[in-house]
This record gives sequence, structure tokens and C-alpha cells, in this order.
Amino acid sequence: MPAKRKKSGPFITGIDAGTSKISVVVAEMTDEGIDILSITSSPSAGMRKGVVVNVDSASSAIRDALAAARQQSGVSIREALVSISGSHIQVTTGNSSILVRGRNVSQTEIEKVIDAAGLTSIPSGRQILHVLPTDFIVDGRRGIKDPLGIPGSRLQSIVNIVTVSDEPLQRLVASCEKAGLQVSDVVLHSIASAEAALSVEDRDMGTALVDIGAGTTDIAIFKDGWLQHTMVLGIGGNHFTNDLSVGLRVSFSEAERVKKQFGMLAIADGEDEEIDVVGLDGEVRKISRKLVFEILHLRCEELLELIKKELSRPETKEAVTGVVFTGGGVLIPAFDRLAENIISLPIRTGHPDLAPAHTGKSTPSLPFITVAKEQYHGPEFAAGVGLVLYGAGYSHQPEDTDGAGLLNKMTGFFKNIMGNKR
Ligand SMILES: Nc1ncnc2c1ncn2[C@@H]1O[C@H](COP(=O)(O)OP(=O)(O)OP(=O)(O)O)[C@@H](O)[C@H]1O
Ligand SMILES: [Mg+2]
Repeated sequence: MPAKRKKSGPFITGIDAGTSKISVVVAEMTDEGIDILSITSSPSAGMRKGVVVNVDSASSAIRDALAAARQQSGVSIREALVSISGSHIQVTTGNSSILVRGRNVSQTEIEKVIDAAGLTSIPSGRQILHVLPTDFIVDGRRGIKDPLGIPGSRLQSIVNIVTVSDEPLQRLVASCEKAGLQVSDVVLHSIASAEAALSVEDRDMGTALVDIGAGTTDIAIFKDGWLQHTMVLGIGGNHFTNDLSVGLRVSFSEAERVKKQFGMLAIADGEDEEIDVVGLDGEVRKISRKLVFEILHLRCEELLELIKKELSRPETKEAVTGVVFTGGGVLIPAFDRLAENIISLPIRTGHPDLAPAHTGKSTPSLPFITVAKEQYHGPEFAAGVGLVLYGAGYSHQPEDTDGAGLLNKMTGFFKNIMGNKR
């Protein structure tokens, strides 16, 4: 364990409120880099399919989650970045152009042209969450990824605009505020997860980030460095548990236990094993493990086929060269084997990418962690950790200050929107 030092901040907190759990990640910006002080997880409430449906229940669950995080980190949390997901998310394209004042494109002009694209009119009832520059054009010359210092007189930007519906956004912010928390920024869940689980190469080459949560499966496609498409499937880990609960005639919590313990672990041909379950009447019964396997396998196959179908659409097929899975749903034993067989693309599990702080000093290029490794390593914490990295302006390339500049630029839109409202 690293020696205890006095915590002086500044601190960054990320809150990922999901359908089944709320995870809170607290970090401190130190001279050595981003030090993750705590990662905690508490039961969620008032949410359905990744969206707040009941502000009172959600806010009391957030309050409890904050208390756990405060206790673990020793930091009193007043504001946080919060992730948002759900089927209301949309990605559209936009563009803008400005005249370049000097002879070469400056950082201010890059920010200006992205800002201008963020003024694109969008349908009423929606708000812009992110404006992601996918391409720059200088005097008609396309395909410029970083226009800084390039000579020219007109700068254009092509952007992807991520929008959300007003109501779920407001319910999420209201739930946090009711829990005594100021929301400093709202970040798309998959953009946050990508910060922690995808490398720059993944995002450039074309990767599908697939988050199997409790209520939904969210797919986000990254290519050429930025988010290009998002889709939401209405199946998550809860459906696996429900199938078991009905098929075995056991309670949801007993089905959850059986799912986590046995999952889809292989059983040799012609063999079976009896396992004990507690029935709805409270009596212990013997059931066949093969039955557990078959029920879960069927649901998992269905979900993976749906994911494969989404990845085979004309607009996504060319873009995706690999799949990274996050979310608690992928922890189901033997998930990887089935996913590999069905998806027929390289796959891996997206663990938050952090360095352990054995000596109190991190590898300079990676955020580091003072809590035990197994506490943060799960794919269900990718979004929470990613929120903190996003808030810190960390971009997997700390030496690339231009990249960090663009990332920081993206975060401004939500603040502007909220600022105008108050
Ligand atoms: N060890 C495990 N084995 C099998 N399933 C697991 C395991 N751990 C968690 N899960 C499942 O993962 C799901 C929860 O995942 P996660 O915490 O990512 O969801 P969430 O963020 O609360 O929900 P959502 O993202 O849908 O809003 C649950 O269905 C849970 O049963
Ligand atoms: Mg989730």
C-alpha cells in the first residue's frame, strides 16, 4: 500500500447511474497525475432501461451512493460529472465554416468553428450533449484531422452532434440536485466508457463498444477517433435472470445467484450435475445444471445475434474491426466463448485501463489507483472511471495537448445549456 498523504484536491467525481447499480468514482488531481481514490457501487432505484423514471427514488439511491463514496474516499462530494444513456440518444451530422484571420489556423479558430457547429438547430424537445469534430476542411481541402497551423483562409468543420431528449436529461439532473449534488457536466455513457476502455488505436481503426447492463445493451461505434453511431437493444442482464427465475421457478435474487455462479460453463457431453436451489416456497430443490446452461445459452445467443445484426448494417459493417464488451452482463461465466463464436470479429472485455500505485508514483502516461486492483478492474466500472478521465481532460495521449484541447472543447456544451436555463 502506498504511504498515506494528505488529500488536498482538486477532486473529480464521476457518477454512473445504471438500472441496477450506481457507481461513484472519486479521483484527485495530483502532481503525479490522476489518482483514483475510491470506486464504490450501490443499488439503484427509480430507473428503467438506463433512464430515470422516478426522481424521488433515484435521488435517494444517489444520496446513498454518495454517502458510500464519501466514506470510502474521505472526500466530501459537492459536484460530479454524470453519465446519460437510453434509447433517446441520437447522433446526427452537422457542419460550419469560419474565415481564418491570420495566415494559419489557430487553436482559437478551431474552437470557434466547433462552437459554430454546436449552434446547429435541432428538433425541439432535444438538447445537444456533444459536438464531435470528425473532419476539417481548409480552403476546400478535405480529410484534415488536425488543422492547427495549416495555412488557409476558410476553415470548415464536419461534426457529429450527440443529442438527448429534454425529459430524461432533466430527470437525471433533478435526481442529482435533489440528492444535494451539483452536476458539472453530463457525458454520454458510451463516450465515458470509451475513455476508460478504448485505446486511441481502437477508436481510430473502428471499434464497437458494447455495454451489456442490467436493463439494456448499448452499442457505440467509434471510428476515425470519434463516436459515429449509437444503438440500444432492449435486452440486458435482467432478462437472463428473469428467464432463469421463470424456468427454474425461483425468486429473482436466487436466479441472480445461480446465473453468477454457474452461467454458461460447459458441461461435458452426456454428463450433468445436480445443483441445489431455493424454490419460491423456501424449500431446497435439486435441479439440473444443464437446464441452467440451456436457458442462459438461449438468451445469450439471441442477444449476440442481435448485436451481430446491428454490426452488419451497411453503415456499420465497414467501420467495425473489433468489439469491446463492457457492463456487468458480460461477467456471466463463459460469455466470451459464445461471443467469439457468434460475433466472428476480434473481441475483448473492456477493463478500465489504470496503473496500480505501488510506490505512490504512477506510470506518467496512465491514471493510477490507490485502492485494490480488483475493486476497479471490472468492465461494469468502465463508465464511472471514464467520467473521471473525461473530467480531467485525459485523452489516452497526455503528451498530445492539441488532442486534449479538442476533448476539453467538447465538454462545454452541456454547461452552456444549463447556464442559460438558470
Ligand atoms: N458475475 C456476474 N455474472 C453474471 N452476471 C453478472 C455478474 N455481475 C453482474 N452481472 C449482471 O450484470 C448486470 C448489471 O450490469 P451493470 O452494472 O453494468 O448494469 P447497470 O449499469 O446497472 O444497468 P444499465 O446499464 O442497463 O442501466 C446485471 O444483470 C447483473 O446480473
Ligand atoms: Mg450501465
